[in-house]
Amino acid sequence: MFVARRIPAAGLDRVIAECDADVWQDPMPPSREVILDKVRGCDGILSLLTDTMDAAVFDAAGPGLKVVSNMAVGYNNINTSDAFDRGIRIGNTPGVLTEATADMAVTLLLAAARCLREGIENVSARQWKNWEPLGFIGQDLGGKTIGIVGMGRIGLATAERLHRGWGMKVVYASRTAKPDAEHRVSAVRLSLDALLEQSDFVSVHTDLNESTLEMFDASAFKAMKSTAVFVNTSRGGIHVSEDLHDALVSGEIFAAGLDVTNPEPPSSDDPLLDLPNCVVAPHIGSATVSARNGMASIAAANLIAGVRGENLPHEVIPEN
Ligand code: GLV
Repeated sequence: MFVARRIPAAGLDRVIAECDADVWQDPMPPSREVILDKVRGCDGILSLLTDTMDAAVFDAAGPGLKVVSNMAVGYNNINTSDAFDRGIRIGNTPGVLTEATADMAVTLLLAAARCLREGIENVSARQWKNWEPLGFIGQDLGGKTIGIVGMGRIGLATAERLHRGWGMKVVYASRTAKPDAEHRVSAVRLSLDALLEQSDFVSVHTDLNESTLEMFDASAFKAMKSTAVFVNTSRGGIHVSEDLHDALVSGEIFAAGLDVTNPEPPSSDDPLLDLPNCVVAPHIGSATVSARNGMASIAAANLIAGVRGENLPHEVIPEN
């Protein structure tokens, strides 16, 4: 089998002990050509969110490929219908990264709301000369409204932090009603348009699919408050970078906190990276000890179960 990167020992040790594994050693992802070559004859692939898994990869592997185990909760890098057509099982790693990712959403929300990047850059540039009564003035959090787009596990964990910690009112937009969120944080379900209009903070937690691709475009940013903060810890493809840039420069919204970019990673001349009111982290929402160990361990268990023809502990089920 092919393991597309070195992953934490919590998962890798088991894969190496129980399988004949070819582990890609370079910290940079294998190229498309390398993947197509390495998967030949494999019964299992352990992939990361950076590795495109589609018909060409499955065909290169051949009919013996039984499972693609993705070390991520999101699996938009995998063409699931191409996989299911070939009887290939897909695994993902939900649950273990919920708290870490919600912590990152709140971190970015706070940093963006409180002009932290501007302040840190001022200090690093040795420009801190004075206590400024009119400088670095950000947004208050207490009693404001948080709009959660995609009220799944991570959306709810983020809402709970902001509701319990800052007394925020929670509104959400989701394909289906979420009684659990309505019960736990008194969340109110709204259309996306109403959510954008009413929210002081908007945090995105939906998966990337055809209906969420570039959902945050110029018209979405225009609909938001000029004091609003936009946070995206899910997938960069959900926002249009140029439109976000323009909204931040024109003052259509106040600030943004991103753990994901479009494209990802961004090009070195991406103008979004220059904006003082845009805090960008390198997709580290799940980068804590327990989250990454948990992900590695589930990914290994999914891979091993899949090559043995057993049900995966966390399997992506085809939608009918
Ligand atoms: C991280 O983004 C994941 O999907 O696990």
